Amino acid sequence: MRMILLGAPGAGKGTQAQLLVKELNIPIIATGDMLRAAVAAKSALGLKAKAIMDAGGLVSDDVIIPIVQERIAQPDCANGFIFDGFPRTIAQAQAMRDAGVVIDYVIQFAISDETIINRLSGRRIHPGSGRVYHVEHNPPQQEGVDDKTSEPLIQRDDDKEEVVKQRLTVYHQQTEPLVAYYQDWENEGSAHAPALVSIDAAADVSQIENELLGLFRKEARV
Ligand code: AP5
Repeated sequence: MRMILLGAPGAGKGTQAQLLVKELNIPIIATGDMLRAAVAAKSALGLKAKAIMDAGGLVSDDVIIPIVQERIAQPDCANGFIFDGFPRTIAQAQAMRDAGVVIDYVIQFAISDETIINRLSGRRIHPGSGRVYHVEHNPPQQEGVDDKTSEPLIQRDDDKEEVVKQRLTVYHQQTEPLVAYYQDWENEGSAHAPALVSIDAAADVSQIENELLGLFRKEARV
């Protein structure tokens, strides 16, 4: 199973990816998490990416594409993977297509900008693992600390309202066109085209999880 979780910042991609892996047992490839790890390690990539991420822009395709190509060549990706936050531009999607990377599903997380702004102001993350919480909708067992490690949770630098608005603008300009890209590919009737599935990302976390698991269990039975 290879799938892409496609949606605006804060649509819930990371939350669902973490729930799906428990059932599907395949790795999550989250380019945002990979970049944040590079920033924390102060590597050359991290130094280059930090200012762009803090301003709400996208790291350039020629940096991101080789990192992802290298990651999916690792043995743990042999049975599949979940792309979270990749591809984010037509060039990134086309690079996967040109490389013959067959994707089964593109899950589009449909949600309004207003809901996202509210969600991101309440998001907290555990920097070590990338585990995601929300102060109201998905709180940790104990306020401010991670459920598994009891380490402190933090708020991401790019979750400030003005940066979120810029990320949404970038999403609408550069990433949303991927919905039409995959729809057109599916309409061509090509055997390798992924199935594009749209879900209501404003629904409850468990409702979305059940919808996605239902889809994949049905696939496993076919
Ligand atoms: P990245 O880390 O990928 O951020 P993003 O796509 O902006 O997505 P988020 O992680 O903000 O949101 P999410 O959809 O995962 O939502 P979450 O589950 O956390 O990228 C960061 C930056 O890195 C980019 O801006 C860019 O600079 C760079 N970058 C990354 N990939 C790149 C690429 N391919 N190319 C170029 N640059 C790249 O949920 C959000 C909150 O809502 C949480 O608090 C959660 O608990 C809550 N929540 C989730 N679901 C629900 C629900 N159903 N109901 C209520 N609350 C919910």
